Amino acid sequence: MAFQRVLCLALLCHGVIAAHSPERAAAPRKLHGRFLHITDLHPDQFYKVHSSTLEADACHHGKGPAGTYGAETSDCDSPYALVNATFDWIGANLKDQLDFVIWTGDSARHDSDEQIPRSPAQVLGTNRWIADKFVDLFADPSGQALQIPIIPTFGNNDILPHNILLPGPNKWLQYYTDIWRRFIPEEQRHSFEFGGWFYVEVIPNRLAVFSLNTLYFFDRNAGVDDCATPSEPGFKQMEWLRIQLQFMRARGMKAILMGHVPPARTESKKLWDETCWQKYTLWLRQYRDVVTASLYGHMNVDHFLIQDTRDIDMSLISGGEAETADVREAMEDELSAASTADYLQELRHGWSKLPRPSTDEGEASGGKGKKGRKGGKKPKGLWGERYHMSLVSPSVVPNYFPTLRVIEYNISGLEDTPVWEDKGAEMLQLHPVAEVDDQKHLDLRDMSTVDTELGSTKEHKSGDKDKKKKKKPKKGKKPQDPSLVIPDPPSTASPPGPAYSQQTLTLTGYTQYFANLTHINNDMTPDGGPVEESEGSSSWTDWLLRWRKGKNGDKKPKTPDEPNPRAFQFEVEYSTFDDKIYKLGDLTVNSFVDLAYRIGQKAQGKALAEVDDNEDRDIEEESEYASDASDESDSDDDDEFDETTEQGDKDKKKKKGKKHNKTWLHFLRHAFVSTVDDDDLEKFL
Ligand SMILES: *[C@@H]1O[C@H](CO)[C@@H](O)[C@H](O)[C@H]1NC(C)=O
Ligand SMILES: *[C@@H]1O[C@H](CO)[C@@H](O)[C@H](O)[C@H]1NC(C)=O
Ligand SMILES: *[C@@H]1O[C@H](CO)[C@@H](O)[C@H](O)[C@H]1NC(C)=O
Ligand SMILES: *[C@@H]1O[C@H](CO)[C@@H](O)[C@H](O)[C@H]1NC(C)=O
Repeated sequence: MAFQRVLCLALLCHGVIAAHSPERAAAPRKLHGRFLHITDLHPDQFYKVHSSTLEADACHHGKGPAGTYGAETSDCDSPYALVNATFDWIGANLKDQLDFVIWTGDSARHDSDEQIPRSPAQVLGTNRWIADKFVDLFADPSGQALQIPIIPTFGNNDILPHNILLPGPNKWLQYYTDIWRRFIPEEQRHSFEFGGWFYVEVIPNRLAVFSLNTLYFFDRNAGVDDCATPSEPGFKQMEWLRIQLQFMRARGMKAILMGHVPPARTESKKLWDETCWQKYTLWLRQYRDVVTASLYGHMNVDHFLIQDTRDIDMSLISGGEAETADVREAMEDELSAASTADYLQELRHGWSKLPRPSTDEGEASGGKGKKGRKGGKKPKGLWGERYHMSLVSPSVVPNYFPTLRVIEYNISGLEDTPVWEDKGAEMLQLHPVAEVDDQKHLDLRDMSTVDTELGSTKEHKSGDKDKKKKKKPKKGKKPQDPSLVIPDPPSTASPPGPAYSQQTLTLTGYTQYFANLTHINNDMTPDGGPVEESEGSSSWTDWLLRWRKGKNGDKKPKTPDEPNPRAFQFEVEYSTFDDKIYKLGDLTVNSFVDLAYRIGQKAQGKALAEVDDNEDRDIEEESEYASDASDESDSDDDDEFDETTEQGDKDKKKKKGKKHNKTWLHFLRHAFVSTVDDDDLEKFL
């Protein structure tokens, strides 16, 4: 054994040790076809129960309604009690049914309290705490090895100043190499220190999860530029992604992409630099046979994004400075409720222009596009591969209610496949990563180094909001950029990938869990009314303030001196497996384009007429991607209406109108994690 270890260190062959370890004798783990997506925990060590949720107090000071497990619907961060209870709940209810965990960042509090500005040691400290909690929860009985892989990524609040991550290598990347040493495969730790990106083969030789460092795509990161200039880390990350996805294709593997900041891009707002969005969308088009799903956090709002490959503009991808018609403004890094409302409206507006999914044989054939039709199946695949889809999960931090998302995927044929094993634990014992002591490294003497490396450690709340200066776009033609390598598309013989047609590794659905903090904190009077009414306490306009004090902001706890919370638990908010309005037969792009189309429908007559003009063109042009995806979900969205309201025939006219907005209302209800009353939701119509 000793000899083998020595040999092994020399050859870096992890497998030998694992095969000879006595602990490995237990029955091999089996796949469950299920994984957890958890995001935006924002633990706050200064959170005080029954403090005030007003902006100046931020649940740190004063007296008010801040509950034991958090102040729901407010902009306060998470008390440790919520983080602990969440991990306990996962341990008791989910742990043994998961194949891996996707953790999309922001494990530090916001810089929302001027009296207690964030320090690097605090930001790294809460991150280390959460990372250790994952290790504790998922370690095997011996406490040595992780039973399943955990895949983390940075959020824009996991660094200081927030949003600004300079090109690597730098101290922050070095710290996270240490904090996540149990999660980053040994052989990628070195490259991680340069870029902050890595991947894990969560099912060896079958499925990899790619942790993207979206801070290098993030428009508000003033420390980097674009994805079209070869010296930029965004460019390098795209190159890495391209090369790795090419390897994945060659090995017959599939990939899930994950990151913190999603590629949101509506009419007037965007989160990613345009060249990064462009390249990403092109990569996804070319690797549509490989990429199974894209999962993000950051927004705290439950929603999804549809990217249209028709928006790809090659002039923006090659060589950077092309003349651009892009007039989108960078989105605030933290959305206020008001801008969330605008953002969701813009999403809907974009979706209202989607071509109508073909649900009728006659319409679908339209005299052309016969190519994609096989065996009488509905030719949805005719348009499906034109689009990509990103799922954005809501947060643990109770901007609405705390949430968790459990995603299921098809493991048919993988029942006995070899599973991931933690090679890191033993390698670490033999070959430890030098522990970085955050406190020691970040003490005052060391600050000067941190300052030089990170620009400034001082958070400037508004400073980085100044639009970073972009080079003036050059006009006219420019030569083809020699640094641009366009990835190969799937071979014409290969069938549509798991994102487009149901097969092994296709995401089949998810269950959305939430913790009803209003109920659990048990602070307000039983009927939900305020103990003490104050002006405008629950008016809709409260939602439109930049800082949200939350729905209890003006209320007093019934027992201010001794909170009396109920047992903490998550419950199901909804499940795509049985949601009667979403009717998602699976999580393929086709299913979501169909849903987006339905959400976009307003006044049926007009919208449909507009759509009809585009449809023939769409089908014709898409037939090059033709597939015979057999999704049979029915997009008639009227029949379940009576289940969702009890109006009877009181107001037939209103009801009929509402019908057309029903899917949109349902989407909004979930966007805000069921915290907003239907009456208030209707103000969005
Ligand atoms: C949370 O759990 C940690 C142990 O992981 C414990 O030390 C701490 O006191 C707990 N905090 C709260 C508020 O429950
Ligand atoms: C899972 O994939 C297999 C093929 O790999 C397919 O036959 C089966 O219908 C899929 N199951 C579901 C529920 O989509
Ligand atoms: C949450 O709990 C409150 C108080 O018990 C209740 O009024 C409300 O309907 C619950 N919300 C949801 C979405 O279940
Ligand atoms: C449905 O939404 C549209 C667009 O937002 C709006 O004009 C219409 O009045 C709504 N219909 C009803 C009945 O609320």
